[in-house]
Amino acid sequence: MTTSGTESTAVRTGVWFVGARGSVATTAVAGCAAVTAGLHPATGMVTETAPFAGTGLPALSSLVFGGHDTASCPLPKRAEELTVAGVLPHGLPAAIHAELTAADQEIRTGGPQPGDTRSDEELIAAFADDITGFARRTGVARTVVVNVSSTEPSPAPDDPRLPASSLYAAAAVRAGCSYVNFTPSTGLRTEALTAAAEAAGLPHAGRDGKTGQTLLRSVLAPMFVQRALTVRAWSGTNLLGGGDGAALADPAAAAAKNAGKERVLADTLGTAPEGEVHIDDVPALGDWKTAWDHIAFDGFLGSRMILQTIWQGCDSALAAPLVLDLARLVSRAHEAGLSGPLPGLGFYFKDPDSGPAALAEQFEALLAFAERLRESR
Ligand SMILES: NC(=O)c1ccc[n+]([C@@H]2O[C@H](COP(=O)([O-])OP(=O)(O)OC[C@H]3O[C@@H](n4cnc5c(N)ncnc54)[C@H](O)[C@@H]3O)[C@@H](O)[C@H]2O)c1
Repeated sequence: MTTSGTESTAVRTGVWFVGARGSVATTAVAGCAAVTAGLHPATGMVTETAPFAGTGLPALSSLVFGGHDTASCPLPKRAEELTVAGVLPHGLPAAIHAELTAADQEIRTGGPQPGDTRSDEELIAAFADDITGFARRTGVARTVVVNVSSTEPSPAPDDPRLPASSLYAAAAVRAGCSYVNFTPSTGLRTEALTAAAEAAGLPHAGRDGKTGQTLLRSVLAPMFVQRALTVRAWSGTNLLGGGDGAALADPAAAAAKNAGKERVLADTLGTAPEGEVHIDDVPALGDWKTAWDHIAFDGFLGSRMILQTIWQGCDSALAAPLVLDLARLVSRAHEAGLSGPLPGLGFYFKDPDSGPAALAEQFEALLAFAERLRESR
């Protein structure tokens, strides 16, 4: 069942992707057009299920896309590349060429590029101008900025410069936009920027989309606790190619990612078990990720047991529907006058701003959030 017929179609809503030419952003734009045109069902979109009927979410057909990227490959060409890689279905880029071209025309050059001499303030002002220009040209009622850019290493504590993700987050606040951080990068998660968003009455949600291995962990870890089984060690390995695999080949970027994957275990088990998470870049796999978990646990009378799981997913196909869900939910929260972090959206993240860590409780919180949106109409 879909929420069609109960959505807000009269006003248009802007979705501004940081990393707009990446796999996740391209799949989200293509997927939105494909579902709107009735070419494919909205599989994987939680906001298209019955509990979200009547919550006033912006209709998929009312979303207008734009964004920043440092790459220059046109969006229709990126979509063709994703088709060749088996991420998008054959024939789709041709069928939605107009929508891809329209989004492409609203992508601006991001930064900072190597050799860029602009100060943080100048970069923030330039990015904010790009976002407000987009809103003016397209006539959208409000815009949500969604970070789907390459994962950054965690910034050094004494670095006087803001990381790129935080420059964009500051620009979002300056442009009066709500904000979603689908990556493990810092984004809005600094004291000053979080306070600025709160003062401006802007809602935000983050961070790092929970699409595969961590999704499974947030289901399995509570099971061990509920059955009074003692987890002795939890180890994981990920094999992945594509742009994300290449970015995560940098050990500092991988460390930022793995912190979120490990947090869910500490939060649900009450203590961090032995074991590590590794991410290997395997370019030949493209967007197809294999995530292997090996869980050593003790049963009655100390009997030793092992659970192993293998998750094989298409990363962007898992991420894109969640990105569309988040864009709709956060822009609707903005319209409803909610501000600050949205704990009801922890369901979507590896490293949520607050709230429970187990998926079942996070889903309950999401349903309560939907109810709140419904009541605010
Ligand atoms: N299942 C998933 O795919 C999943 C899950 C959780 C999080 N994520 C995160 O989503 C992000 C995007 O993943 P992807 O597979 O689309 O990666 P990708 O490499 O295909 O795309 C990233 C894009 O960001 C752009 N970029 C890099 N630096 C930039 C800057 N300073 N300004 C603007 N653009 C910049 C790149 O040019 C590229 O087009 C990654 O951080 C990834 O960790 C993905």
